[in-house]
Amino acid sequence: MVIAAATKNNNKIREIAAITGAFGIDIISRAEAGVPDDVEIEEDGETFEENSEKKAREIMLICGMPAIADDSGLMVDALDGAPGVMSARFAGTHGDDAANNRRLTELLAGVPYEKRTAKFVSVITLVFTDGRSISARGECKGHMILEPRGDSGFGYDPLFVPEGYDETFAELGDEIKNKISHRSAALRKLKDLLKAEGF
Ligand code: IMP
Repeated sequence: MVIAAATKNNNKIREIAAITGAFGIDIISRAEAGVPDDVEIEEDGETFEENSEKKAREIMLICGMPAIADDSGLMVDALDGAPGVMSARFAGTHGDDAANNRRLTELLAGVPYEKRTAKFVSVITLVFTDGRSISARGECKGHMILEPRGDSGFGYDPLFVPEGYDETFAELGDEIKNKISHRSAALRKLKDLLKAEGF
């Protein structure tokens, strides 16, 4: 089976393809699947599940082949789960990591460390051409710090210390992050679900 990736992010495509490849499922980019570059899918859902399902379904409908999408973000307990689905545009501009991190640390100033618990969430959804879908959610728990540390990774990585570690995701680096991250947990679950579906 060949599946179209809804994301334009080649790193994510590689991570997903490494799992699905073992099941004889090949992932191709949305461009290779014939999706015009200017097609933007609005992430207007209230949950990661809604957004990843919407992205996969719209790409499936455009290219007529199964599609896979992921949606992810950070949920901070002291902020009632914010930034959540707004993670990429928390400070207003989509993808402005520095501004998002500044806003987060401003909101958390005065909150003691033990109350700065948070989790990263990733939901990966595969939608088939008959409309059926498989959805896998992965989480990674940790704490937020108020001064960014480390240079690797992206987004909120310099502010997030995963459970069981003293360093941030940005200090730990990709090799460790990819073993314990929300995205790798979602991919492990996807692997189990594909097995259970008989792939
Ligand atoms: P998306 O799923 O690529 O749209 O990511 C949404 C946003 O969540 C990103 O722009 C980041 O702000 C945040 N995010 C998701 N995953 C991570 C991660 O692994 N590290 C840091 N930030 C992340």
